[in-house]
Amino acid sequence: MCGIFAVIGTSNNAPQLTFKGLSDIEYRGYDSWGICFSSDDLFKTIKNIGFLPKTFPEQLSQVSLGHTRWATHGGVTIANAHPHSDCNNELILVHNGIIENYLELKAGLRKHLLKSETDSEIAIHLIEDEYSKSKDLSSSVSKVFSKFDGLNAIVVTNGTKIVACKKGSPLVLGKLTDGYCLASDPNALLPLTDKLIFIEDNQMVVLNDKLTISDLKTKKEIQVKFTKVIWDYASSTLQNYEYFMEKEINEQPKVIETILNNSAVAEKIAKEIKSAFGTYFIGCGTAAYACLAGTYLFSKFAKKHVNFSIGSEFNYIEDYLTPKSLVVAVSQSGETIDTIEPVNAAKAKKCKIVAMTNTLGSTLYRTADYKLLLNAGVEKAVASTKAFIAMLSEMILLTFMVAGKKQAGVEVLKKSALEIKNILKNANLLDELVNKIAKQEHIFCLGRGLSYPVALESALKIKETTYIHAEGYAAGELKHGPLALITKGTPVIVYVPNDETRDSILANAKEVQARGAYVIGVGPDNNPVFDFFFKVKDCGASSVIPHTVFAQVLAYKLALKKGLNPDKPRNLAKSVVVR
Ligand code: F6R
Repeated sequence: MCGIFAVIGTSNNAPQLTFKGLSDIEYRGYDSWGICFSSDDLFKTIKNIGFLPKTFPEQLSQVSLGHTRWATHGGVTIANAHPHSDCNNELILVHNGIIENYLELKAGLRKHLLKSETDSEIAIHLIEDEYSKSKDLSSSVSKVFSKFDGLNAIVVTNGTKIVACKKGSPLVLGKLTDGYCLASDPNALLPLTDKLIFIEDNQMVVLNDKLTISDLKTKKEIQVKFTKVIWDYASSTLQNYEYFMEKEINEQPKVIETILNNSAVAEKIAKEIKSAFGTYFIGCGTAAYACLAGTYLFSKFAKKHVNFSIGSEFNYIEDYLTPKSLVVAVSQSGETIDTIEPVNAAKAKKCKIVAMTNTLGSTLYRTADYKLLLNAGVEKAVASTKAFIAMLSEMILLTFMVAGKKQAGVEVLKKSALEIKNILKNANLLDELVNKIAKQEHIFCLGRGLSYPVALESALKIKETTYIHAEGYAAGELKHGPLALITKGTPVIVYVPNDETRDSILANAKEVQARGAYVIGVGPDNNPVFDFFFKVKDCGASSVIPHTVFAQVLAYKLALKKGLNPDKPRNLAKSVVVR
């Protein structure tokens, strides 16, 4: 998704810092990029489509704005890439978000020369109009920003000053020894500084030789207070791995261990779940599947009903929330707008909010009443792996805490961490399977009960990294339609744990086998119905964890076999901050 990085300081290395900052947020996904810096009272802009180059030519400047774009309004072209300038190249802007009323605002810009198809460019021309009258950049930016509908962040410079505003789109300020930097993701700032301020909605930051932050509505200045953030930069680099996805899969046993060593906040949240009048787990994509798994876990092991909704659908079923409801919002990035929006609506109804997130200081983290950090470390591969395992682990721990059996939860999680290590040790056993199915166009993943969310997550991982059409199904649903798609040789993965689903899922495996499917069995015991079997030891309630890891490794290996970069699936972004 779009990324912003901006620097102002007294050293002349602003363009280099901007290039480095954009490289650190590359993982979020983008299709074009641009860097602008002031040079001899003029702005010089370098833009291109595709990925950033390995190096950036040395340029001397104290002010620079950079952007990585993920196209929404207008195609992937150099003209549409940011930064954008006014008609005279005196003002420069980068923008994240969508200006929803841009067509209406554009109508007033007939005298301007628009060079792109973007909603972003109209912002800088509107600011140009205001600035030509007042020569005051801060008031011009604030006036124009207040006209925008939608969730946006903009950063504007005239070469001597940087002015930034945000509403609903993340922006973080960092303090350098000789200046300041701004970014849409703290991961771009943390290599440079540990002193950060997470800018709140409807605030304006003005940076020149000094820093002011003010409220856009009241115009009052806000006390500037930097937070010191502890961060291990080395852990966010590839180290000896070729791809982040491989590194992050390998980190998973450690992620579980960290969760088990930091369970105090989970204890508090378990109490809230016990006393709430209705608990709602919400999230998107992979996080939604963790939430769905939560409903099965709570029902089976804590005998408690909890509700689940996809984040983008929760808005439409929120009418029954009351101040006694508890909303547990699950999001790796803590910035997914489809999760944040319903959280805000629930907050307006005075519900209590729990953020289960991997990102300290994220919008969700700051919005929530209770903050359950996943502590999985930065996740850079677009396809989520270790964050999902962290979410599942927290769900298991919370379930057993609510059931008053925390130690039992700890034991099954420890077992699953050991089993992940076994799977990783035996990963080469999957090579034969990869060779067999890499050229297939369709793969089906089946599970029942707790294995149903695993089937959904497996299919999502395979889709993202391999572009093979993969479908996750509740196995019982197969005969209600999808069975028509099973033909000779269609790979069907069946999850067969040692639980109440075992006999029924084996019967479903026989159904697909009878239609010619190539049946891939995953679980503790082999069975004659399987054409290929991958053994995963029984880990009780935690079997969902090693079962998912099987699918992660398979998806990763399939991507490599197909010559694809598993870290950067086409069309996808790491953090989805638009609706
Ligand atoms: C899939 C994946 C996405 C995210 C989804 C929500 O591998 O990563 O489906 O899970 O976009 O993201 P977060 O968890 O950041 O809210």
